[in-house]
Amino acid sequence: MTTEPTFWVRDVPVYGDVILSPMAGFSDVPYRALCRAFGSAMNYTEFVPVDALQGKRNPLWDRLNKKPDEKPVVFQIFGNDAQMILRGAQRIEALEPDIIDVNMGCSTRKVSGRGAGVGMMLQPDLVAKTFHLLTKHLSVPVTGKIRLGWDDDQRNFLEIARILEGNGASLIALHARTKEQKYNFAADWDAIAQLKQTVSVPVVGNGDVRTPADIDALKAHTGCDAVMVGRAAVGNPWIFARKDRSELTFSEIAATIRRHLREMLAYYGNPYGLVLLRKHLRRYFSGMVGVKPVLQKMLVTEDAAEFERLLQALEQERGDRIMAA
Ligand SMILES: Cc1cc2nc3c(=O)[nH]c(=O)nc-3n(C[C@H](O)[C@H](O)[C@H](O)COP(=O)(O)O)c2cc1C
Repeated sequence: MTTEPTFWVRDVPVYGDVILSPMAGFSDVPYRALCRAFGSAMNYTEFVPVDALQGKRNPLWDRLNKKPDEKPVVFQIFGNDAQMILRGAQRIEALEPDIIDVNMGCSTRKVSGRGAGVGMMLQPDLVAKTFHLLTKHLSVPVTGKIRLGWDDDQRNFLEIARILEGNGASLIALHARTKEQKYNFAADWDAIAQLKQTVSVPVVGNGDVRTPADIDALKAHTGCDAVMVGRAAVGNPWIFARKDRSELTFSEIAATIRRHLREMLAYYGNPYGLVLLRKHLRRYFSGMVGVKPVLQKMLVTEDAAEFERLLQALEQERGDRIMAA
């Protein structure tokens, strides 16, 4: 860790310039801990609908669990009503996040179709009101994660960014695609550069970062303060240490899988932690040739000892082999 912060989110220092994306189903407490250990500079929780934050505590609140040493941690919420977003945010402020973020990027119909997620970008007045209320009534910094806009005809990210900044937002993260593009087509890094030139709060660039070289390329192309990595970080926490998967030996991968499993079992219990590791496991093994028969067994076992025996067998066979070889 460097001694000087890389940038500040209002009064919250951030050390480093690569950040794990919020990803529902993936950026849980165990995976965030792992990515943090490899160098993710700041962690976002999976997003939580503010409707779930109005009444009694329910299982969605578990998405806001965090480790005591996980700092800075950003709680991400979404909704379509400014007062409800404020009430939800006020309730979760008691759980001591460092930052609260409003998701204005989710493209799924269930979220955006009811005016939340990227649907908020179609309602600049709602964005203004929400951020005005949040920054007035919360003591933690408030940030926003946006897309380019709804579609190519409505790329209003600069307008929304000015509204965010004008209403006290302390950081803007941009996933450089429209809602219509979902996760397809190339992310528009020029737009991230435009955003950086438009606002003076920190800008986090996001979209299409797959390798350590991409991190530096996105920074150089845009001047953004930090880079957020989503899909390419699944099964690949090494990206936060700026280490390419192709440089890894099988033993290094196996050691990380073990560490991930330990985190999962400690958090979710046995065997549920092992079951939930499966979606990550496929990604840890992606691109490897000749592992399919053992991987199939690892993907069905509910016995952690059996899982370890299978992993060891693979390791004996290919321990020092470099992934790229
Ligand atoms: C499985 C999955 C879940 C996601 N969940 C969230 C979420 O909860 N909140 C959010 O702001 N973005 C979410 N995203 C979007 C990512 O944070 C990120 O913006 C997007 O994947 C683009 O980055 P990438 O090209 O590095 O994957 C999700 C993406 C994926 C693939």
